[in-house]
Amino acid sequence: MTAVPASLTLGSLRVETPVVLAPMAGITNAAYRRLCAEQGAGLYVSEMITSRGLVEGDETTQKMLVFDELETVRSVQLYGTDPVYIGKAVEILCADHGVAHVDLNFGCPVPKVTRKGGGGALPWKRGLLGEILTSAVAAAAPYDVPVTMKTRKGLDDDHLTYLDAGRIAQETGVAAIALHGRTVQQAYSGEADWDAIAALVAHVDIPVLGNGDIWEAADALRMVAQTGAAGVVVGRGCLGRPWLFRDLAAAFHGDDVATLPTLGEVRTMMRRHAELLSEHMGEERGCKEFRKHVSWYLKGFGAGGDLRHRLALVDSLATLDDLLAGLDADEPFPVRELGTPRGRQGSPRSRVALPEGWLDDTDGRGAHLREDTSETTGG
Ligand SMILES: Cc1cc2nc3c(=O)[nH]c(=O)nc-3n(C[C@H](O)[C@H](O)[C@H](O)COP(=O)(O)O)c2cc1C
Repeated sequence: MTAVPASLTLGSLRVETPVVLAPMAGITNAAYRRLCAEQGAGLYVSEMITSRGLVEGDETTQKMLVFDELETVRSVQLYGTDPVYIGKAVEILCADHGVAHVDLNFGCPVPKVTRKGGGGALPWKRGLLGEILTSAVAAAAPYDVPVTMKTRKGLDDDHLTYLDAGRIAQETGVAAIALHGRTVQQAYSGEADWDAIAALVAHVDIPVLGNGDIWEAADALRMVAQTGAAGVVVGRGCLGRPWLFRDLAAAFHGDDVATLPTLGEVRTMMRRHAELLSEHMGEERGCKEFRKHVSWYLKGFGAGGDLRHRLALVDSLATLDDLLAGLDADEPFPVRELGTPRGRQGSPRSRVALPEGWLDDTDGRGAHLREDTSETTGG
């Protein structure tokens, strides 16, 4: 058993609570990051943007690169397969956008991405991975901005990459490595393998951040105790539950808090979320974005099907207020939901989509992988 860390150090950056909001495409925009940050200290990472999109001034990428006015630590996840683009993108993030932390995505399991050698497929090419990390770290160094990487165990159980990735990250000056304890082939199915996180902790000297299946604050403490991880990365567990960050911050500072909001309190949180989305994107788009969160907020509560359906079609804050008024404010939190999975789970992939001949060599230096400008599917 290891002592519970109280804070997290990533190079020059000190995070008050060793808790990181997992980058989630379509979710962790400026509004959601602010909503979560209002709950407790941590590091709140953006949605993934592509290095090529950034370098070429792609419009979708620019729109995603927005920060809340209260976001003092700007943290961005970058996707890329080309060391030159990555280096330039990191430079742009640091020089023009005041970014204080860059995370690199080497975990995305989406076939469209892995088929081109990106995301979770890339660490198979150890040489190329080293080139990308070296380029990112060199570009960030003049700004004293830490670069971290996020990855999975490997392509599948027969093609594990995480231990080599950890060593390469350490050798190239990466500040920390986050490991999602699943393979690309598993996608989001099954259970995250925390033993792999422990194995990585034993293998490297840089901080390891553990990721996968943290549903409650107690899970986070259990993960660090079991693995020796320097901190945790929390994704699906906070969908429709931003207050999880309050519980996590308390847990890492020795308090056992399990927030159990009534439906009235959840309603207030929903309103706040929609309002922040509207501030950042305009009311119409903000309300549309909010729709996907409705079922997560209401999971386990008794709200009727018709009301849920209408909430999932909401198009203005006024309509939202009308509909939210129909919820029973006194309904207690459905405690049977605690500790249960939420968000995507799905089933394992029959095979991992890879570029032709990808497995033939493990180096890949000098490979010219074509990078999409506007890949936004994430991880
Ligand atoms: C909707 C969604 C979008 C995601 N997008 C990204 C992404 O853009 N970049 C990334 O590294 N991981 C992404 N992930 C993976 C999460 O960051 C995290 O690694 C994964 O969900 C496992 O953690 P969890 O069990 O806490 O959810 C995404 C996950 C979900 C559910």
